[in-house]
Order: sequence, then structure tokens, then C-alpha cells
Amino acid sequence: MKIAMVGSGYVGLVSGACFADFGHDVVCIDKDPAKIEKLHDGIMPIYEPGLDALVDSNVKAGRLSFTTDLAEGIKDASAIFIAVGTPSRRGDGHADLTFVYAVAREVGEALENDAVVVTKSTVPVGTGDEVERILADSAAVKDRGLKVSVVSNPEFLREGAAIGDFKHPDRIVIGAEDDFGRDVMSEVYRPLFLNQSPLLFVNRRSSELIKYAANAFLATKITFINEMADLCEKVGADVQDVSRGIGMDGRIGSKFLHAGPGYGGSCFPKDTLALLKTAEDYESPTRIVEAVVKVNDTRKRAMGRKVLDALGGADAARGKKVALLGLTFKPNTDDMRDSPAIAVAQALGDAGVQVAAYDPEGMEIAAPLMPDVTMCADPYEAIDGADAVAIVTEWDAFRALDLNRVKALAKAPVLVDLRNIYSPQDVRDAGFEYSSIGRA
Ligand code: UDX
Repeated sequence: MKIAMVGSGYVGLVSGACFADFGHDVVCIDKDPAKIEKLHDGIMPIYEPGLDALVDSNVKAGRLSFTTDLAEGIKDASAIFIAVGTPSRRGDGHADLTFVYAVAREVGEALENDAVVVTKSTVPVGTGDEVERILADSAAVKDRGLKVSVVSNPEFLREGAAIGDFKHPDRIVIGAEDDFGRDVMSEVYRPLFLNQSPLLFVNRRSSELIKYAANAFLATKITFINEMADLCEKVGADVQDVSRGIGMDGRIGSKFLHAGPGYGGSCFPKDTLALLKTAEDYESPTRIVEAVVKVNDTRKRAMGRKVLDALGGADAARGKKVALLGLTFKPNTDDMRDSPAIAVAQALGDAGVQVAAYDPEGMEIAAPLMPDVTMCADPYEAIDGADAVAIVTEWDAFRALDLNRVKALAKAPVLVDLRNIYSPQDVRDAGFEYSSIGRA
């Protein structure tokens, strides 16, 4: 089957490469000539483990190609995926659908065969209806009389684990309104269905909402355990034990109960806001999600204060130096979007603290976002002369720091572990003043 993927960003590229790996014939399309040129040269525009090898092998096998020419790319495709960005609209949190609708119009102009148009971008409830209206009004349908069905098929990929997630999904959600849409999508996902991944067929609006509801629920779960962590610190409990204790209840589940500095990334912050907007538009308030958004925002800033406390408070901290280890919103990505590190660096800078940082993949993107921070070549360079070391992202490289070397290089043995990757006992035995999240 021929598949066209319009938008070769994170979601489009990973999905396109994985579909090609299933044996489909895939063309990834993007307006940005520089991006397509890079892809032709085998250079990935994003950092995702395993993606370069997957792209390379499928290009070599002749199943994956790249173009800037939409009309050429969608020719003979049975399924045309829209995987362009849906950023938060400046000022109001609504998802910006300009790119999605522009693609729908272009497809409608250029299409020459019956096809299913699939929204893979995260789009608010009702977007599929508008895409359907645009296509119904297009030359493809009006002049050429083609059969076009609009389907919603949200992605649930985690950055850093996207290829594994794509190939072994918990479920595949398909929102279709007719048999043509359902049949083509069954064919698209047949290789996964044979692997026993459940295909969930629902109506288009349910499918669109499932994506937002899933992300809002996960954001709620994280925020819940983060607040429990604060309470643990006050009452002398250990949040990791509390997490294990509640997570063993099958109704709660153990995943996404890891307390930390607050969630970030490209999805949770944007999708929770967009869900609030939808709820507001339909006058059906989602107060829990409202609270989650507020609590998470406040938390990121509070993490800066936690580091200042480890330095003896804001007054004592002025003029001191902190080493920040990890800048990306989570490990195995170069994504800095809404990363807690930004708020932490900001709070430290505001308090007159000098910050030196190291991140294995994120520094290039981070540097312009935190102009006062000195980027270092490795963790130990950042730690050299620091009054405190703060771990913000749990990269594997920080899990086994040479604590003796850290102590020798740092001005003071103070470690703030915002991801709970060290055992308090071990670090204190090594002579450190140690603080972490939700543990005495
Ligand atoms: C998420 C969803 O998991 C995915 O299904 C959706 O399609 C896009 O959004 P992603 O943003 O890549 O994926 O990252 P994820 O691993 O889910 O983590 C999101 C944030 O939550 C990170 O900042 C992470 O550090 C934080 N987190 C996650 C916690 O603080 N605690 C946890 O227990 C889990």
C-alpha cells in the first residue's frame, strides 16, 4: 500500500519510517527544503534513538522516500496522513490548526485518486469535521468526483522510545465514519494487528478526544504524585514507597507515578491547555485539569527555590555557582520544550546565582533559551568550583557519577537530585548534603 506522510517532523518521520518498515511504500513530504535535503543525506532533523538506522535501511530497501512536492508525494497514495505541527496559539492556548487546514486544502487541490485523509497531528474535537468540509469543497471531490474519507488516528509516542512505542502500541485508536475509512486503516495497521496490537474503532470525535483525555490523565497522575511528594517531605514519608504501595493496586497502576520537577515536553503542557480551551468553548469545565496545569507551572519554579534552599537560602546563594546536570525535559531527547530546567535556571539567575550546565543532547537548543548559563563539555567541567550540583534530567550518564571526583571538584559537597536517581544513604555516606523529591 502506498502511504503519504505530510509533515516530516517528529511524529511524521517516526510514523513514516515505521510504516515503511512494515513493508508499506511511504513518501514523507515536508515544505522545508533544508529538512528534506538533510533527510536525503541521511541526516535526521531530530534526535530519536534508532531512527537514523530505521530510515537508512528503509530508504535502501526502496520503501521510504522524501520530497517537498505534495502533489507528487500523494499520487496513488491510499492513505494520506497529516502530521504537521499544532502549536498552542499565541496568547490563548487553543491549538493552532492553520497548518492542518492548509494541508487539507493542498491535498484537495492535488488529489487524483480515492484516498483516506488521516489526521495524526493532535487536533481538537471537531477538526476532522472541518477537514472533511474543506475536502468536500475541493477540486478532488467537486470536479473529479473522488471518494475521500477523513479519519482520526492519534499517536501516543513517547520521545526517546518512539520506535518501540510505534511497533508495540497498547492500542491503535481509529476514528472513522465510514467503511472506506475503516477498511483502508485496517490495511495500514494490518502488520501490527497480526502482532496482536488491539485496533480500537470509534467515531471521529471520540478518537480526537481520546488523545487529549489520555494526556490529561497522565499529566494528572504525575501531578498527583508530585503533590504527594511534597506532603511526604513534610510528614517524613518516602514518596517512592508511597508510589509503589499505591501502584501495586491494579486499578491505579504503577506507571507515571515517578515524582519529579514537573512534567514538560511537547505534549502534556500544550495538550492540557488545549483541552481546557475545548472544555471552555463547550461550557463543560474540567476543573481537575485546570488545577493540574496550575500546580505543574508553580512546581517548576519551586524547584529553583529548592536549589536555593540547598545553598542556604536566596540571600546566601547570591554570587554562588550551581552545576545543572540535564536540561532536556526528559532523557534520550534533545527536546527542551517546557523543560523544568528552564524555570530552574531562570530562578537561579534571578537570585544572582551563576549557572554552569551539561546535557548530553540538549545544549545546542538550550543555549539560546538560557543565555546566562555556561554550557560545559561534560558533567565534571560544570561541577568544577560549584557550590551545589543539581540533577534536573535523569540521563543515564548522571546515574553513576564518580562521587569522589565530584567532591574533589566542587566547592561544597551539596547534591540536589530532582529525579531521585540516587540512594540518599549512599550519597550521604559519601559525605554529601543531599536533598531529593519526597524523601526525608
Ligand atoms: C507524552 C505521552 O507519554 C505520549 O503518549 C504522547 O503522545 C506525547 O506526550 P512525551 O512527552 O514524549 O510523551 O514524554 P513522557 O515520557 O510521557 O514524559 C512527559 C513528562 O512527564 C516528562 O517531563 C517526564 O519527565 C514527566 N514524567 C513522566 C514524570 O515526571 N513522572 C512520570 O512518572 C512520568
